[in-house]
Amino acid sequence: MTVTETPPPAADAPTVGATILEARGVTMRFGGLTAVKDVDMVVREGEIVGLIGPNGAGKTTFFNCLTGLYKPTEGVVTLGGAVLPPKPRAVVIAGMARTFQNIRLFANMTALENVMVGRYCRTSSMALTSILRGPKFRREEAATRARAQELLEFVGLGNSAENLARNMPYGDQRRLEIARALATDPKLILLDEPTAGMNPQETKQASDLIFRIRDSGLAVVVIEHDMRFIFNLCDRVLCLVRGEVLVEGTPGEVQSDPRVIEAYIGGGDDEDEDEVTPAPSAEKTEDQL
Ligand SMILES: Nc1ncnc2c1ncn2[C@@H]1O[C@H](COP(=O)(O)OP(=O)(O)OP(=O)(O)O)[C@@H](O)[C@H]1O
Ligand SMILES: [Mg+2]
Repeated sequence: MTVTETPPPAADAPTVGATILEARGVTMRFGGLTAVKDVDMVVREGEIVGLIGPNGAGKTTFFNCLTGLYKPTEGVVTLGGAVLPPKPRAVVIAGMARTFQNIRLFANMTALENVMVGRYCRTSSMALTSILRGPKFRREEAATRARAQELLEFVGLGNSAENLARNMPYGDQRRLEIARALATDPKLILLDEPTAGMNPQETKQASDLIFRIRDSGLAVVVIEHDMRFIFNLCDRVLCLVRGEVLVEGTPGEVQSDPRVIEAYIGGGDDEDEDEVTPAPSAEKTEDQL
């Protein structure tokens, strides 16, 4: 971990607006293990918020609680002031999208088709129109295809539309997941280790992409182990340790907090001392990369 440099403030950061996401007292227990304990987090419009912490700190579990993959044992999550039901589809429709630490793409579909799948939650294509395949269906399908292509271009994959997801380089698969998440028209996007497995050039591109996503009007929450990336990118950072928020503050405050340094290099969790960009540990199922 790099904790000595003071990063420059995020360039051209827009004014932070109203609260978009509010998590209060989120707790997640698995039997005797409390993976997330009484976590509060507020995200405002126009913000990029970082979530850091050693391996096993509960970061992904917290994302799973926010996005309805897990029903928290305790706590409430609201988006735009409305309580979110703990159901992934309802959460997406309410305006929160995510990517996964272990990439989940449709391996045997093209990049374009993967993004189109994300779009279907905003169309009526799953209903009667898609069975009848009439003019309305064809119009919607053409619009979905055009929007998916636009999003591929936005993430820098405009020339990869017809490539099968499983044949794409790892960094491109991560960007493709972001495009698919954006296709759901979210107000807020959660990114779980978006630069894992990327080289420095791809990491820089990912950082530029996240700034552009924020500039397009979305709020962003990002989990990462790469501290330089986080501290350069985020307006605010929360450090989670053993399921609890240890420190919350600006990048400057968090990186100079001795408790954060201790959590990483002296805390006994299996985190390396150096800046960490872990290789993906995904177990891949047949239809997921
Ligand atoms: N479905 C589950 N059942 C039981 N335990 C779980 C489950 N999901 C996560 N855990 C446990 O919860 C703890 C937090 O795991 P989590 O994956 O959220 O950590 P993390 O901060 O994302 O770590 P990493 O940086 O390695 O991705 C770990 O001890 C993990 O083993
Ligand atoms: Mg994780």
